[in-house]
Amino acid sequence: MTDDVKPAGPQAAPARLLAGELWWKAGVVYQVYPRSFQDTNGDGVGDIKGVTARLDYLAWLGVDALWLSPVCRSPMADYGYDVSDYCDIDPLFGTLADFDALVAEAHRRRLRVIMDFVPNHTSEEHPWFREARASRDNPKRDWYIWRDPAADGGPPNNWISNFGGPAWTLDPATGQYYYHAFLREQPDLNWRNPQVRAAMMDVLRFWLDRGVDGFRVDVIWHLMKDGLLRDNPVNPDYRPGEPEINSLLQIHSADQPEVMQVIAEMRAVLDAYDARVLIGEIYLPLERLVAYYGTDLSGAHLPFNFQLIQTPWHAKAVADLVAEYEAALPAGGWPNWVLGNHDQPRIAARVGDAQGRVAAVLLLTLRGTPTLYYGDEIGLGRVPIPPERVRDPWEHNEPGRGRDPERTPMQWVPGPHAGFSTVEPWLPLDPQAQTGNVETLRDNPTSILTLHRRLIALRREHPALSIGAYRAVSVSGDVLVYERWHGDEVVRVALNFGHEACTTEVPPESGWEVLLSSAGGRRGEGPQDGYFALAGDEALVLVRRAPGAEG
Ligand code: GLC
Repeated sequence: MTDDVKPAGPQAAPARLLAGELWWKAGVVYQVYPRSFQDTNGDGVGDIKGVTARLDYLAWLGVDALWLSPVCRSPMADYGYDVSDYCDIDPLFGTLADFDALVAEAHRRRLRVIMDFVPNHTSEEHPWFREARASRDNPKRDWYIWRDPAADGGPPNNWISNFGGPAWTLDPATGQYYYHAFLREQPDLNWRNPQVRAAMMDVLRFWLDRGVDGFRVDVIWHLMKDGLLRDNPVNPDYRPGEPEINSLLQIHSADQPEVMQVIAEMRAVLDAYDARVLIGEIYLPLERLVAYYGTDLSGAHLPFNFQLIQTPWHAKAVADLVAEYEAALPAGGWPNWVLGNHDQPRIAARVGDAQGRVAAVLLLTLRGTPTLYYGDEIGLGRVPIPPERVRDPWEHNEPGRGRDPERTPMQWVPGPHAGFSTVEPWLPLDPQAQTGNVETLRDNPTSILTLHRRLIALRREHPALSIGAYRAVSVSGDVLVYERWHGDEVVRVALNFGHEACTTEVPPESGWEVLLSSAGGRRGEGPQDGYFALAGDEALVLVRRAPGAEG
């Protein structure tokens, strides 16, 4: 796909916003969890043809790129995050031809496709690991992390799996332990081995040559471990009830300085192609997160910023977070924001339906690339999962931690199985699927879906929102106010994080009016005596039109 093609249709972005790297700066990324998007072959699990069938919806919604959670060959111990062939599509999802058709059809609609790349670990069924475990002197042995047992026969160090329990599993045939940061079915690759690096760079090229527009790199901060595999120190702040992984400080098992070189190598591979994006999954405190932009921005274009997921939902806390993040960004580093993904309770489950609307306005008006998680735009919340339908292995290891509630099927129509499938889906539907679905919500002017679509459209209409600068205005009680501006245009956002009605003051210059209310309506409304009313749980996007400006 070239960047200079003139987009067609009223929803399309101005061509200049699509040029070069601007597509991933100005655009909105939409995460598709393919198992749960659209089933076309009647097995209760979504597939690639299903994603292709729904591209018109994504174009209608107005997003710019879709990120597909893993679709490569996998035994599905961790639902695709355990890859057994990086260069093929799992038959559950379809074929390489289906994938190529998806990319072509997406590009035809000016939608970019971002793949999930899972380089930290393979499946235990990957041929590399089968070879590695065959004998101690197998040429692939060093592609993984093997160590002799400790003196007492136990694991080589105290590292814990992110899903609970030890991170080492003994291979009785060869008498050594292998390391796995996640399930025992997900052995970690040894990224200190140059052959591993070369093989994985070839995987990137394989998909880039097929036309993918970038990668979201799974647990990128995990790739390098301490060379000496030293014990992690105990976390003095650990509170019982937290996931077991938090009982140790992960200072030796992840976030090692050498990882930056690996990421720079990935970037160099992408940079040999035109305008591709590298996104990194990183759960680290802000000051460490921003290091992943790399020296002279040689790292990830977008180190995923999950801080909104971890910050208390209060005006002041969010204001402080935005200020800290903006201040921490390296020169030229482009920000990004995430409200949810397939590993985190959904935003509506965390803050409630009413504040979920405020959250949508926040996500889509802050400075930086927003990533929208499928289903959030129809207000999916925490879907109850009866015990017999639990699928996530983490729930089996550590009850209460499971991620099934945020992975349930997309809801398209009020009919059977919400139009997701013709059979009972792999995970249950939201009991409110009869009303909470695309068909029911799309023509409702006050629905959460309409809100998302209008916000995305506003970003296209107002460069102040997509690429403009940011400045904090005020935080007072429950109300957070900030501005975005570009050229002559100033857009002001006022978010009421509380349930009580209040007001927000605007500067005395004339020309302020409402562009959007999270509750619907109000467009074009002006201030009264210098104030706009804000209902409880309401967010307003205001614009100040320069005198004489059209619009
Ligand atoms: C990432 C994925 C998560 C997966 C884990 C192991 O955190 O987002 O779903 O379980 O990596 O691959």
